[in-house]
Amino acid sequence: MNTSPIIALDFEHQEAALSFLKPFESGTFVKVGMQLFYKEGPAIVYHLKEQGFDVFLDLKLHDIPNTVKSAMTSLASVGADLVNVHAAGGSFMMDAALEGLDIGTAAGGTRPSIIAVTQLTSTTEEQMQREQLIQTSLNDSVLHYAKLAQTSKLDGVVCSVLEAGSIAEVCGNEFLKVTPGIRLANEAAHDQKRIATPAEAKKMGSTHIVVGRSITEAADPLAAYQEIARQWKGLGK
Ligand code: C5P
Repeated sequence: MNTSPIIALDFEHQEAALSFLKPFESGTFVKVGMQLFYKEGPAIVYHLKEQGFDVFLDLKLHDIPNTVKSAMTSLASVGADLVNVHAAGGSFMMDAALEGLDIGTAAGGTRPSIIAVTQLTSTTEEQMQREQLIQTSLNDSVLHYAKLAQTSKLDGVVCSVLEAGSIAEVCGNEFLKVTPGIRLANEAAHDQKRIATPAEAKKMGSTHIVVGRSITEAADPLAAYQEIARQWKGLGK
């Protein structure tokens, strides 16, 4: 799979997203989240694919297995390259998600890759223990969900950079660790609690980084993307 930094297209509507992407080459990897997808529907994915972009459709499905299976059948036919579910939906739901993707993938086509959200990076250990009644450390819960996702033959997980290393030890280097919370050195963290630079993310075991505001709000988004890509490739900082 494309290992370039994934740009989070957190825009209100398609027009804004497509006009932002004008300077970017086809083959750039972008992420469509709930905001854009719920506004524009599958058309946004068709447009992006038509222009040659790789698309991570970040909709974080979590429902009963049969519903997730049907939803994944639909998403596979929309043409996303990467989709996701919440691991908390359980192994039967993850098995069903894969089945749905297989059904929705056109004959001769490539099934979208699928990863699982472990614990949301907005969840603290204290909150997880109090609200979800999970009495382990946050790291153990994340590792448990990563192993569950791997047993269900998913391709990887979304996790924080801090967890990528222990997931690599348990699930291997090939298992995808897609990590948001990326900032260049000396940049504002915004609402992200645990941040890392692209170079740190690489060192700590991320296989993919997701970057939003550092690129979308930069004075020169293409230059910001290129600098992040350079650091991600291990060239400097
Ligand atoms: O602007 P920023 O780089 O913080 O954007 C990160 C992107 O990754 C956003 O689209 C956000 O929703 C997403 N994300 C995240 N943490 C997760 C999962 C997704 O920040 N655990």
